[in-house]
Amino acid sequence: MTIQTRPAPDSDSADSRIDLEALLTLQDMEDAARRRMPRIAYDYVSSGAADELTLGWSESRWREIKLRPRLFTDVSTLDASVTLFGHRHSLPLLLAPASNQRLLHPEAELATARGAAMGETAMVLSNAANVDIHEVARVAPRPLWFQLYVQPDQGLTRDIVQYAEDAGAAVLCVTVDSPVEGVRNREKRAAMCLPPGTDHPNYLGRRTGPRSTMTLDAVRPQRLDAPLMAWLCSISRRPVVFKGILTPDDAERAIDLGAAGIIVSNHGGRALDTVPASVDALPAVAERVAGRVPVLVDGGIRRGTDVLKALALGATAALIGRPYLYGLALGGADGVAHVLKILRMEFLAAMALSGRASLAEIDRSVLW
Ligand SMILES: Cc1cc2nc3c(=O)[nH]c(=O)nc-3n(C[C@H](O)[C@H](O)[C@H](O)COP(=O)(O)O)c2cc1C
Repeated sequence: MTIQTRPAPDSDSADSRIDLEALLTLQDMEDAARRRMPRIAYDYVSSGAADELTLGWSESRWREIKLRPRLFTDVSTLDASVTLFGHRHSLPLLLAPASNQRLLHPEAELATARGAAMGETAMVLSNAANVDIHEVARVAPRPLWFQLYVQPDQGLTRDIVQYAEDAGAAVLCVTVDSPVEGVRNREKRAAMCLPPGTDHPNYLGRRTGPRSTMTLDAVRPQRLDAPLMAWLCSISRRPVVFKGILTPDDAERAIDLGAAGIIVSNHGGRALDTVPASVDALPAVAERVAGRVPVLVDGGIRRGTDVLKALALGATAALIGRPYLYGLALGGADGVAHVLKILRMEFLAAMALSGRASLAEIDRSVLW
């Protein structure tokens, strides 16, 4: 199968260059991307699982939370920096792992890495990326994180971990919420398929088939049990972060198994539909973890105020997925950097307007 490059019916003329500066919000970026991207690529990025209820809540629930500003404090100098696993980040924001970026831009993950470097933001490279991590590492900002999909062949899993570590990956992010992929009805209807020649080099050429099967005839999930996760933590020479935790009990188990960090995530609404928005899961997880390891969160973050709310609810940092993918589709590295610029400005403004000069001052008292 080949990818259709036919633009969506209402798309702008294919060769008109986008004026990124005219796009003021992440919503503007998504609207522009929807008009210009091939429909199949837009559906791949924007869709969620099944009835997309979790997908909808993921954005709307952030908006329902109100902020409580504090006046008469000195916010003339703002410090949004945070240290994660020994690395200083100028902003509590990372780019979430996302597969198959060649669908969005010919330079794929290399453009994302360059955009992340311009935006001084760390990226998490997906195991299902279309560019080799050794190549990405040459242009990505430090630290580069690598996301792992556990493979049916345990030897291959071990070799992928080692390959990523040898490339300089500083953190291993293991996705634990997808023993099978979600029921992606919209993606299936769009008949998502990759451009010819598109590769997944970070499976080291040894992937003999999908890691799990889900058809009308058979559902064969990937094993992701506790002993396997403990083994993974034992073989990694880097901190291991489990991505996809939604409950305090699983957060507790993750720490017992050796996780050095947790990402509260519902996989952008692409895995189990009707689980709650991450923002609803975050407070109880953060409370149970009680500072033992960093708790990150992703899903539906579209404004600087959303990042502020995430931190107020106990997150150490947040990640974004779709917004930077729209940036990538619109303008390659420049598009990714533009998304990061908008969020940086909005987050710093939210800190100043709520009367918080540093991340240490952001706690529950920020919420109304
Ligand atoms: C197109 C696309 C591809 C994704 N690929 C991966 C992946 O390879 N590994 C993974 O752990 N999560 C993947 N995710 C989930 C993201 O890492 C992240 O959890 C989610 O996108 C965050 O929600 P947001 O898009 O609303 O910001 C993907 C998400 C999208 C939209």
